[in-house]
Amino acid sequence: MTEQTGSESGSDEVESTPTDENGPGSTSADGSGLGSTPTDENGPGSTSTDGSGFGPTPVDRDGRASGTLMASLARPRTETETRLAVIADPHLSTRGSGTSKLFEHTETHVRQALTDAAARNPDAVVCVGDITKDGEPWNYERFDELLAEIDLDVPFYSVPGNHDVPKDGDEHDTLSVSAFADRYAPDGQFPFHVRVGGVDLLGINSAGDGEFLTDTHEGEVSAETVSWLAERLPETETPVVVSHFNLPETDRQLRAHRDAAEPDMFTPPAIRNAEPFLDVLADNDVPLLLTGHLHMPSTAQQRGVREVMAPTTCSFPQGYLLVDVGPDGTEIRMVPCADFAGTVRGFRERSSDSVTARGLTAMAATRLAQFPLVEE
Ligand SMILES: [Fe+2]
Ligand SMILES: [Fe+2]
Repeated sequence: MTEQTGSESGSDEVESTPTDENGPGSTSADGSGLGSTPTDENGPGSTSTDGSGFGPTPVDRDGRASGTLMASLARPRTETETRLAVIADPHLSTRGSGTSKLFEHTETHVRQALTDAAARNPDAVVCVGDITKDGEPWNYERFDELLAEIDLDVPFYSVPGNHDVPKDGDEHDTLSVSAFADRYAPDGQFPFHVRVGGVDLLGINSAGDGEFLTDTHEGEVSAETVSWLAERLPETETPVVVSHFNLPETDRQLRAHRDAAEPDMFTPPAIRNAEPFLDVLADNDVPLLLTGHLHMPSTAQQRGVREVMAPTTCSFPQGYLLVDVGPDGTEIRMVPCADFAGTVRGFRERSSDSVTARGLTAMAATRLAQFPLVEE
């Protein structure tokens, strides 16, 4: 079989629907058939009529979503109970619309995730990257406004994703990685190490910095970052590494799905030259790597390193993760951040956007059907 990599849009997901940048406040109809003003404002568990065209939510479910157990891990463990809220790939766009990312709903969904997370007393909120559609300064400004409005009351940290960093051909003044670090890294640079409760959180840039990876949406962990991890990891008690890009094992899962079920799908841009990165994680017995990028809840294990990929807030299945680390291990729950109509819309748009998007949707759905993915 011919190896197919990348995508025609250079994006995490192949998008066949053109976006239109209509300017602030654009409210173009989405042709969803779910109603002309899909508000998606009622939050998970809403039973009110939500303007979707469905009327009262047609699902036998009541109350606030408590989250579904995604993984129960033997490690990491800490004496100090520590809760991380992990959001992925918000792709916030105040001016775009369409695609399987549902750009016109990105703000609603990430606001819901952050608001819900804030109410669950996390010790920190962590984003694994792709905060913005494509690094536009106005989208960062809106994201920071949301953070201020929601008033998390705990630290917010993020590593950059491939859509957050400068790329050749950007038609806007993309935020630099140093400016990104000023906003979202605890000491204003990558990589970073910060204690959160009993956890050592180590955030790395796997997405490029304007000097490399400018002509591709692939990822890479630089030799300098690998050296930093080799020095820093032995000094940590309970390391949890945060990266946008995934382990090679996750990319193997994707190719396996393609070969088994969707031979014409492309595989999204992946990490390259991953061995030194995997070596340093495995050699230092890192129990948990938190990632995003592929827009689905998923797990993988490679040489003893467990990757847990957070679902995106923007496309099906819209949600975020609560990661609870304690003396008995780590429990990870997925909490939805779209209401019923928003989830249906997300499924429909993602599964019909392209063959690749259909394949990724099936991968997400099969993982949801197999929850919890890990029980140790
Ligand atoms: Fe993404
Ligand atoms: Fe990405």
